[in-house]
Order: sequence, then C-alpha cells, then structure tokens
Amino acid sequence: MRVLVGGGTGFIGTALTQLLKARGHEVTLVSRNPGPGRITWDELAMSGLPRCDAAVNLAGENILNPLRRWNESFQKEVLSSRLETTQILAKAIIKASQPPKAWVLVTGVAYYQPSPTAEYDEDSPGGDFDFFSNLVTKWEAAARLHGESTRQVVVRSGVVLGRGGGAISQMLLPFRLGLGGPIGSGHQFFPWIHIADLAGILVHALEASHVQGILNGVAPAPTTTNAEFAKALGTVLGRPAFLPLPSVVVQAVFGRERAVMLLEGQKVVPRRTLATGYQYSFPELGAALKEVIA
Ligand SMILES: NC(=O)c1ccc[n+]([C@@H]2O[C@H](COP(=O)([O-])OP(=O)(O)OC[C@H]3O[C@@H](n4cnc5c(N)ncnc54)[C@H](OP(=O)(O)O)[C@@H]3O)[C@@H](O)[C@H]2O)c1
Repeated sequence: MRVLVGGGTGFIGTALTQLLKARGHEVTLVSRNPGPGRITWDELAMSGLPRCDAAVNLAGENILNPLRRWNESFQKEVLSSRLETTQILAKAIIKASQPPKAWVLVTGVAYYQPSPTAEYDEDSPGGDFDFFSNLVTKWEAAARLHGESTRQVVVRSGVVLGRGGGAISQMLLPFRLGLGGPIGSGHQFFPWIHIADLAGILVHALEASHVQGILNGVAPAPTTTNAEFAKALGTVLGRPAFLPLPSVVVQAVFGRERAVMLLEGQKVVPRRTLATGYQYSFPELGAALKEVIA
C-alpha cells in the first residue's frame, strides 16, 4: 500500500513508518516542513490527496509540554493542530477521484471520564465532560466521512511507552536518580500501551478489511494504577520509586485543567481491538518497560 501519514515525523509516526516499510508498504509523510518523502499541509490543502491507498493522522501539538503554560493561546494550538490537520485530510479524501481504502485517526482515552470504579470499552459513553473529552469528540467528528468508499478507524490511545519520546522520556531522569514515584495519590488508573503495539494496531487497522470504527489502544493486561506503574519502572531501573510527586506541584506546573491528565485516570479495556484479532507483542507492563529501558 501507499500510506499517507499526517504528523508521521513524530514519536508514534516514526515507529509506524518503520513498521509499514518493514511490511513492504510505501510511506509519504505530511508535515509542516518540506523534505524528502514528505508533502506539507499547505500542499495537501491546495493540490489534494496524492495517490494513496490509505491515510493516517497523528499530527498534534504536544499537550504535556511542561514548558508551555496552559493558557488560551496554547489551548487553541492544541485544538487547531488536531482539528485542522484532520479536516484537511478528511476533505482531501472526500474530494479524491480515487479515495483511499482506509482512513485511520489516533485520538486518546481522555474521551472516557476518569473514575476509580468504571470500566470502559469502545462502546462506553464519554466525550462531553471536560476540555480533553470535548477535544476528542470534535477531533473524531472532524475525521468522519459520509459514504462507504473509505473504511474509517479511530484508535483511542493510552499513554504510549517507547524509546526516545513520549511520557517515559520525561520520567526517566528523575526515576534514574531515584527521585521517581507515583503522581498525586497514585491510585488513579494508568492506561498504557507499548509503542510497538500501537504501531501494530494501526497497521492491523490499515491492512485488515474487517476492521472499522473505534478501537481502544491500550494493553490488555490487568489495569495498572499510577503507583503500580511507578513501582514497575523503579524495579526495571533498579532504583527506589517511592517519592510521590504532590498534586499541588503537578497543578502548578501544568495548570489545574491539564493536570487532570496526570492526576486522574480511566480503566480502559481493548475489547474490540482484541475481537478484531489483534495479537499484542507486549501485553504485560514489566516486559514492555524492560524493552523500553534496554
Ligand atoms: N504519545 C502518546 O502517549 C499519545 C497518547 C494518546 C494520543 N496521542 C496522540 O497521537 C498523536 C501522535 O502522538 P506523538 O506522541 O507521535 O506526537 P508528537 O511526536 O508530539 O507529534 C506528532 C507530530 O505532530 C506534528 N505537530 C506538532 N505540533 C504541531 C502543530 N502545532 N501543528 C501541526 N502539526 C504539529 C509534528 O509534525 P511536523 O513537525 O512534521 O509538522 C509532530 O511530529 C497526537 O495527536 C497525540 O495527541 C499520543
């Protein structure tokens, strides 16, 4: 297949591109910056969809950048970087004379309301209770196509664990120094997925013609809390991980609204992902962390 990947220069996109190429597919990236093997968003909006068999969108301003204050202008960037890129791709697909066979979007489990008791699968309600859940609703709506010619899949991802990026890259230094530990109470759920599995689910969604609709991109392991995650990371690194990061510090750095992403969590199960036949490479947290740290 020829696959067009919006935001494919990033953390998940790099892993996805490697896996697609290893499976014999061709990849063209859509980026803000021109370069070999890329087109820009402006070119895509002006010239329409290049010939491709499938499209994916991964573009989005990094929400948990601790150097950016959670103010109105940053919130607008977080929103527009996702909605506008998704709209450009969706419009290009609608206008294409030969529409791609598959169109896949990665959103997040922030769609589901954090809760210490509820368990969410792909059919559970959500998407209407705070900034991030509303963002996911608008983002998924921006991707929606009417008509049957292109198969549509949305992968709601948990925290992606992989080398060289994502949440772990920010946690490693304090944990290596023995200063790691649970965030806030540590009781909140921590839905996670190894990057090889997220890339694997995306390729499964692109290749398998029976896959359609929402898939939860989380590991099938028994649900992990933030404290269990911190303990497992400390164990893999051979370091103590008992120092809690107080909620007030997280709120001061990230702002109250954004801090919810770290201080609260959802119990999410990949019921449909498993039912579609996807087989996980890293279903267990310990093995996933060992691979990331190795
Ligand atoms: N990583 C996770 O744990 C996780 C979890 C759940 C959901 N997701 C979602 O999955 C997607 C990909 O995640 P990722 O970790 O791979 O992200 P990433 O590496 O931070 O960014 C992906 C790409 O988005 C583009 N981008 C960044 N800021 C942009 C902006 N303001 N406007 C337009 N494009 C922009 C960049 O491409 P160019 O510089 O080439 O334009 C970047 O390479 C994101 O939408 C993210 O919200 C990620």
